[in-house]
Amino acid sequence: MPAYLIKGGSPLHGELPVHGAKNAALPVLAAALLCDQAVIHNCPRLTDVEAARNILHYLGCATAQQDDTVTVRFTGGGDHRIPDRLMRAMRSSIVFLGAVIGRYGMAEVSMPGGCELGPRPIDMHLAALRRLGVHIDESGGVLRCTTPNGLCGARITLPFPSVGATENVLLAACTARGETELCNAAREPEITDLIDFLNDSGARIRVASDGTVLVTGVAGLSGCRHEVIPDRIAAATYLCAAAVTGGSVTLTHTRPDHLAAVLPVFEEAGCALTCRDDVIALQAPPRLRSVGTVRTMPYPGFSTDAQSTMLSMAALASGTSVFIETIFESRYKQVGELLRMGANVKVEGRVAVVEGVPELRGAEMNCTDLRGGAALAVAALAARGESLLNQIHHIGRGYETFDENLRKLGAQVTLV
Ligand code: EPZ
Repeated sequence: MPAYLIKGGSPLHGELPVHGAKNAALPVLAAALLCDQAVIHNCPRLTDVEAARNILHYLGCATAQQDDTVTVRFTGGGDHRIPDRLMRAMRSSIVFLGAVIGRYGMAEVSMPGGCELGPRPIDMHLAALRRLGVHIDESGGVLRCTTPNGLCGARITLPFPSVGATENVLLAACTARGETELCNAAREPEITDLIDFLNDSGARIRVASDGTVLVTGVAGLSGCRHEVIPDRIAAATYLCAAAVTGGSVTLTHTRPDHLAAVLPVFEEAGCALTCRDDVIALQAPPRLRSVGTVRTMPYPGFSTDAQSTMLSMAALASGTSVFIETIFESRYKQVGELLRMGANVKVEGRVAVVEGVPELRGAEMNCTDLRGGAALAVAALAARGESLLNQIHHIGRGYETFDENLRKLGAQVTLV
């Protein structure tokens, strides 16, 4: 099995362009099913994107990828059923549900089940789709969806601004009959990107000043050329790697405004930041300070996806930092591995208390999940001695050429 051998202690320096956002590309790829043809630029080369393309082939689309451009063309002859093995390939395959129903008027998919972050139910997705006229039969772990009277616009209020449920409502509502009003919708930049893609493809979606999303159904979508937004979580990860090693990096192709809740935490830790246009430059202090209290929240709050790498940074800062995870039940799985390096972290339920230590020691570790894996790599880059990081397929789900990028910044990382 491939692993990363990381020799810690080299401060990261240099410039790095940030790739397109996984969590924006995946729903846009799902939305492409509703279009005649779509050309998606800045699409990251990730295993999750490959999994999405495999699903699209099954659903009757031809796809091609050249560099970071993916073309999707609906050719027909596909199926409304997504096989279980493809559903299991990535948890976010559930975002195809709204698009399959929109395209075929029916869908059959297996329940995505739990994952490394906790149970991850889809009750909000299903309740919202039912409001749009979808009949759902759940039996034997399979969801059979039909629309006996077609998809019909409705007023929907989500109990929580779920990203995935918001995406499924948008995908199903844009070709439904009539108007849909979605209250308490998620406001993540990836949602805005999906709305931009759908509107440029012919949909009629508007976001009111109070955040309510209003969708007027249209007969069909033609498609468009679209540029996926930069990955704000990859950007935060490389900033953490530079900060924890006492380095300085300049990230290009970023959106500093998408990191408005995350960047001040680097300043709290003593880093100097300069942002202009699409560039973020960070200069780390000789020793990081505690990051205080970090509470994850739906956007525009502090992103849960940036929490794990920030925790690795806090592990080496002077003083005590406190993390409160409000989004996912099990988002501290990597902490057990971090302890092997000599970190001092106590987890109780959703709270992690991190007493910064002056030094971490290299160790052999297993990636537990995507962001947890990146967090272990960040810690290993700053540790004394060598670390062996196993199960790195998790990292490949969300970071394009991760080891190569770190090497460009001067890190000693080898793929073994
Ligand atoms: C998206 O997951 C992202 N994934 C996650 O990124 C991200 O952490 C999350 O949004 C929050 O920002 C993709 O975009 C592919 P949610 P999603 O629905 O859509 C509960 C990464 O590392 N919930 O907003 O699954 C749920 O269990 C990944 O890149 C229900 O209870 O997030 C969770 O506790 C990980 N019932 C909370 O809401 C539902 O029907 C937030 O989930 C739906 C969600």
